[in-house]
Amino acid sequence: MRREFLKYLFEMPLLWLGIAVLAGLIFIGDTITDLEIAFAVLYVSVILLSVYSGRTGAIAVVGIACAALTILSYFLTRHGASQAGLFNGILSLIAIGATTYLAIKIEKSDATARQAQSELARMSRLMIVGELGTSIAHEVSQPITAIAANGNAALRWLAATPPDQHEARRAIERIVTDAGRAGDVITRVRRLVAQSSPSRDMCDLVEVITDVLELVRSEVRKGQILLRAELDTELPLVSGDRVQLQQVILNFIMNAIEALADVEAGTRELLVSAAAAENRITVSVRDSGVGVPPAMIERIFEAFYTTKPNGMGMGLAISRSIIEAHGGKVYAAPNFPHGTVFGFTLPITGETRG
Ligand SMILES: Nc1ncnc2c1ncn2[C@@H]1O[C@H](COP(=O)(O)OP(=O)(O)OP(=O)(O)O)[C@@H](O)[C@H]1O
Ligand SMILES: [Mg+2]
Repeated sequence: MRREFLKYLFEMPLLWLGIAVLAGLIFIGDTITDLEIAFAVLYVSVILLSVYSGRTGAIAVVGIACAALTILSYFLTRHGASQAGLFNGILSLIAIGATTYLAIKIEKSDATARQAQSELARMSRLMIVGELGTSIAHEVSQPITAIAANGNAALRWLAATPPDQHEARRAIERIVTDAGRAGDVITRVRRLVAQSSPSRDMCDLVEVITDVLELVRSEVRKGQILLRAELDTELPLVSGDRVQLQQVILNFIMNAIEALADVEAGTRELLVSAAAAENRITVSVRDSGVGVPPAMIERIFEAFYTTKPNGMGMGLAISRSIIEAHGGKVYAAPNFPHGTVFGFTLPITGETRG
């Protein structure tokens, strides 16, 4: 447990520095003021601050430390009536104990809720990946089998004595046709993904984004990412498929979170913004992560382009299809000074929120 605690200490240095400074100030205040003053009750704020660590173990350690400091300061305090001091001390200890207990309880139920959410986020990702994987495998396997068969045939025609160049050439032509078919299949599958359940409701993008942020809350917390959202509250509605738009934003944010995992904990920043200008709405997801090499920025939207060991390379390709099916455009650019900004623009259709 102590080693774990030390680990947290290094993971969230600012939070723990704040906690230590606050606890120190309260300890000094408690020790230099009279025993009659229940200064130690302020430790409650330290415990509440520790909730931000998101770890029940850490909250318990902070609670115990606060109780220990209260007792220590009772013995160190020089002024005041010791009986009143004892009474105040016990009162403070009860307050500290109760707060710690409640904070741990709240954090526990919060953790359960977060787990359910992250499960949901994972499931929805798995669902598309699963669906897509099956249909691609199914449709592409046929031309690929044909390509292999024709390749072997061509080799045999060429190995024959004398080599039959005419037949070999025909086999190779069939290979080219089949390769084209395999490419068409992938294009079709992509279009299919973008067009499945093509509902066109009036969507409130602020709501869509807020829902996604709720979904990734635990990932953001776990990744120790400083998340900011700048959402124009007067944003006009857009016509589109809410679930698909959610999927796009989720893809951008998951990518950003993954890109932030590789940079130092104190520098992980994520900014999600939505604003309207002229007759378009722009949504962007800006991260301070590892960034994309400039030469690669053209390729990342391609299907199956991935640099991740477990990546499908489909997230951005699907996102692009969805946005284009909505009459919009996706973009990616380097973020200054680190990271990448991904975003899309959608046309405003005229209706306002009501
Ligand atoms: N925010 C980002 N920062 C840096 N690189 C990124 C970012 N977003 C995407 N990329 C790069 O683009 C590639 C393609 O992203 P995409 O979302 O299409 O696929 P993926 O994340 O690798 O896999 P998945 O299909 O599971 O989402 C990533 O592998 C990564 O190299
Ligand atoms: Mg991705």
